[in-house]
Amino acid sequence: MPPTFQDLLARARRLPRPGRRAILGIAGSPGAGKSTLAESLVRELNGPGEPWVAHVPMDGFHLADAELDRLGRRDRKGAPDTFDAAGYAALLERLRAERYDDVVYAPGFERVLEQPLAGAVPVPPSARLVVTEGNYLLLESGPWARVRSCLDEVWFCGLEEPERVRRLVARHERFGKSPEDAAAWALGPDQRNADLVAATRHLADLVVPAQAVPDARGSAPSAPG
Ligand SMILES: Nc1ncnc2c1ncn2[C@@H]1O[C@H](COP(=O)(O)OP(=O)(O)OP(=O)(O)O)[C@@H](O)[C@H]1O
Ligand SMILES: [Mg+2]
Repeated sequence: MPPTFQDLLARARRLPRPGRRAILGIAGSPGAGKSTLAESLVRELNGPGEPWVAHVPMDGFHLADAELDRLGRRDRKGAPDTFDAAGYAALLERLRAERYDDVVYAPGFERVLEQPLAGAVPVPPSARLVVTEGNYLLLESGPWARVRSCLDEVWFCGLEEPERVRRLVARHERFGKSPEDAAAWALGPDQRNADLVAATRHLADLVVPAQAVPDARGSAPSAPG
């Protein structure tokens, strides 16, 4: 039986151990639904009480455009070497080590500016579970391998290709690209990154079927069957 959203909630609840913060990773290709799944999990797990689950996207570790220009990598923004992977690994290591410290701040990613933003994501001391999500959590090269070793489990968003590309194009358009530019970016640079990510799917602890992910408006997923 493929897991339902309720199964995912139960599995996530079991990850923290007494005195030790757990980190759950969600990987998947661009547009596969990582952020939507992470947001739904965090919202449902936290409920109305004091938050014990925090959401830390890998997106905050995008290099700034000025640095990508200096490196000559602006035209492939989104590729593995356009992120501060070592910085991301260091933050995850710190999150594991500092359970009872003050708030730990992670950077966010501002989608309109398309730039990282320092200090945007607070992780309170009460957070016993951190949900982190991004394309490259399962890459085995360079500092990405350090990222994987910080994660208790990694789940992979297994959305089928045609639907993934359709959603990705629609999202690019919503954030201001023309239909032609949106399709060109989704089928060009995004697709190269998607292929890299797809090759890491077998390393995941769990593949999450699209039916288990509530839709972007946050409504509960329909019952299976
Ligand atoms: N069940 C759904 N039905 C329709 N659209 C959805 C559904 N879930 C998510 N989407 C939409 O698909 C798009 C991609 O989802 P999301 O942003 O969660 O993916 P992602 O894996 O985080 O992408 P990226 O790698 O670019 O950050 C979004 O525009 C989102 O609103
Ligand atoms: Mg996302």
